[in-house]
Amino acid sequence: MMGAMRVIAVTGLKGGVGKTSTAVNLAAISAVTGHRTLLWDLDPQGAATYCLDLKPKLRGGASRLIGGGRGGLAAVARHSTIDGLDVVPADSSVREIDRVLSVSGKPAKPIRKLLAGTKGAADVVILDCPPGLSAVVEAVASVADVLLVPVVPEPLPFRALARFSEFLDETKVASPKIVAPFLSMIDRRKPIHRRIEVEVRSRGGFLGAAIPESSAVARMGEEQVPMVLSAPRSLAAAEYRKLWAEAAERAGLS
Ligand SMILES: Nc1ncnc2c1ncn2[C@@H]1O[C@H](COP(=O)(O)OP(=O)(O)OP(=O)(O)O)[C@@H](O)[C@H]1O
Ligand SMILES: [Mg+2]
Repeated sequence: MMGAMRVIAVTGLKGGVGKTSTAVNLAAISAVTGHRTLLWDLDPQGAATYCLDLKPKLRGGASRLIGGGRGGLAAVARHSTIDGLDVVPADSSVREIDRVLSVSGKPAKPIRKLLAGTKGAADVVILDCPPGLSAVVEAVASVADVLLVPVVPEPLPFRALARFSEFLDETKVASPKIVAPFLSMIDRRKPIHRRIEVEVRSRGGFLGAAIPESSAVARMGEEQVPMVLSAPRSLAAAEYRKLWAEAAERAGLS
């Protein structure tokens, strides 16, 4: 028998730091290593949906999702070209969900319900969150097993990371222990990146994987294929696989 469904979210305050690239590549790794994987694109920008060359429309329409209908996420997901990877695309409904969640006193409830309805249909759900501290992110934090937070090794992102953990602490939506930061878009030719990497390693608290600045990652926006599949021998792909191993372990995925 398979274990319980695990929920891995890629989130954080900062925009443009590699959340979507991470979600898409981890989803591909998860699927090709034999887990039935669902990638939920929660960002109205729809970048994850686009990177997998899918239409930004939920199967059967948005009302099915918002109504918390039967079948959970699996009912509205689209098959990707990768075996074992289905995607809940970013529909215009994502904005609607955020609105519904912000006015309801318990923002986690609809998301919890949708995930509960998905049990049995997926082994892993990967959530690509929009940047910031919206109601969606609050809800996601309360249902996720792990919150992966990409951090570019520069001073300001560290403040954002601290702020994010404070937010979880204050709102008590999740234990800050599930926050798993990792270095993203690191360019070791830059002295400040090298210096901050050393600092992070001596301080601890970060995952071991560090995703390098890589043109193969940047090209995903035009090739619309996860780079772990199109350039599997690159350093970035190796680091995404390492990140996946660490995330899966934290999430308790067998
Ligand atoms: N490791 C990397 N090396 C080079 N470019 C990268 C890397 N990771 C992401 N990028 C590029 O940086 C941009 C932002 O990446 P991405 O969309 O993954 O970030 P994000 O955190 O999801 O952004 P947003 O907050 O807008 O959702 C994209 O153009 C992407 O191709
Ligand atoms: Mg994104």
